[in-house]
Amino acid sequence: MKKLIKNGVIVTAADQYEADLLIKDGKIAKIGVKLDDDAEEIIDAKGAFIFPGGIDPHTHLDMPFGGTVTADDFETGTMAAAFGGTTTIIDFCLTNKGEPLQDAIKIWHEKSKNKAVIDYGFHLMIGEVNDKVLNEIPEVIEKEGITSFKVFMAYKNVFQADDATLFRMLLTAKEHGALVMVHAENGDVIDYLVSDALKNGKTKPIYHALTRPPETEGEATGRAAALTGLAGSQLYVVHVSCAEAANKIAEARQKGYQVWGETCPQYLVLDQAELGKPNFEGAKYVWSPPLREKWNQDILWDALKNGQLQTVGSDQCSFNFKGQKDLGKDDFSKIPNGGPIIEDRFSILFSEGVKKGRISIHQFVDLVSTRAAKLFGLFPQKGTIAVGSDADLVIFDPSKERVISARTHHMNVDYSAFEGMKVTGEPVSVLSRGEFVIRNKQFTGKPGAGRYIKRKCYNSLTDRTALTVQ
Ligand code: URP
Ligand code: ZN
Ligand code: ZN
Repeated sequence: MKKLIKNGVIVTAADQYEADLLIKDGKIAKIGVKLDDDAEEIIDAKGAFIFPGGIDPHTHLDMPFGGTVTADDFETGTMAAAFGGTTTIIDFCLTNKGEPLQDAIKIWHEKSKNKAVIDYGFHLMIGEVNDKVLNEIPEVIEKEGITSFKVFMAYKNVFQADDATLFRMLLTAKEHGALVMVHAENGDVIDYLVSDALKNGKTKPIYHALTRPPETEGEATGRAAALTGLAGSQLYVVHVSCAEAANKIAEARQKGYQVWGETCPQYLVLDQAELGKPNFEGAKYVWSPPLREKWNQDILWDALKNGQLQTVGSDQCSFNFKGQKDLGKDDFSKIPNGGPIIEDRFSILFSEGVKKGRISIHQFVDLVSTRAAKLFGLFPQKGTIAVGSDADLVIFDPSKERVISARTHHMNVDYSAFEGMKVTGEPVSVLSRGEFVIRNKQFTGKPGAGRYIKRKCYNSLTDRTALTVQ
């Protein structure tokens, strides 16, 4: 089956040019000017950009957390992702101490099987390191193609691991060429601040932010970076929210450490004031790390522009306002942490980044797709538009304006944290391995059509020199 996309403007992390694109057997078969190959279908993309499909390196679908389970599963979550221009996600597989890693992975395969409408991979949480866990790692990498491992430095008594665990995992990742990811907040100090606040009757959502001050994120980020330097390993810091953390990453990179940082749209466009909204509305904006004072947004945009942060993930972790967020009605520490964003990541970054002149269109592609493909072992199968790559493509109208709303979004959740926000630019059609998942803004995909992707190791790419500005 061949498809020919004509008259579009192809945009990658490096180039922008007008060309036609032939798709055959799910791959990009040809790129050229005025291609006239026979094809079963010709798609006119005049006036549109053709981007590589977005890669969201940070999602939590069907995940038990905070006494409940995220509202979006692999079906609704990936469908919403596709509407938003994302064609690959990497979801976090949770593990339990004392249980084989393979058991946890099996559970995540069951959650996703016959559900995902786009391709997906898994990161694996590591809560403890002992001989049993260490013996399992090579098999997890080779058999499962899971090449990134997540250590939580926060969520005391839930996910939090100690420094020895992080350090041993960094050494192990170095040995196997894998990548360690951290949720960097000082969980012990936060635990103390939370108890102290509650003891003093401070129960409203705003105290979620006030008990997780930026110093706790900066300190943990600096600690993780220092341990990475000591181990000579490699680190990816998820959801960087503030100047303190971004500066620690920049300092580490200045020293030549292989430390990479991700931020998320919520930290780029929302701020701490949202948590103070009346009638418990502030609960809609409870993320960890929390939203910060507004001035941090400029620091994060600058870090994206100058290459000190390299990716934008969604941290999709949706909970309904009614029935889930309200578990914390009388105690902010019981509000499930996280929000719905998988569908809006791509559009918000294009609109607020490219359209407002904060980043170039090539930086946009790099941030939402290419760099994640390189760091997480998907490149060049995914993350670019090149002959031989998967035909994961977004046909994007750069001038269409729309308003984000829970009334029109496709996530399985009863609110949008970005309700009423105007964005310019919209994915019109989205293809996954050459098949339309979204066609003229209508869902045409199929649950189960998404494939599990075994990823290559972090060190499989020889070019690790791109630590500096692009
Ligand atoms: O608040 C957040 N970020 N929820 C998702 C879990 C995590 O820490 O990434
Ligand atoms: Zn986290
Ligand atoms: Zn997360």
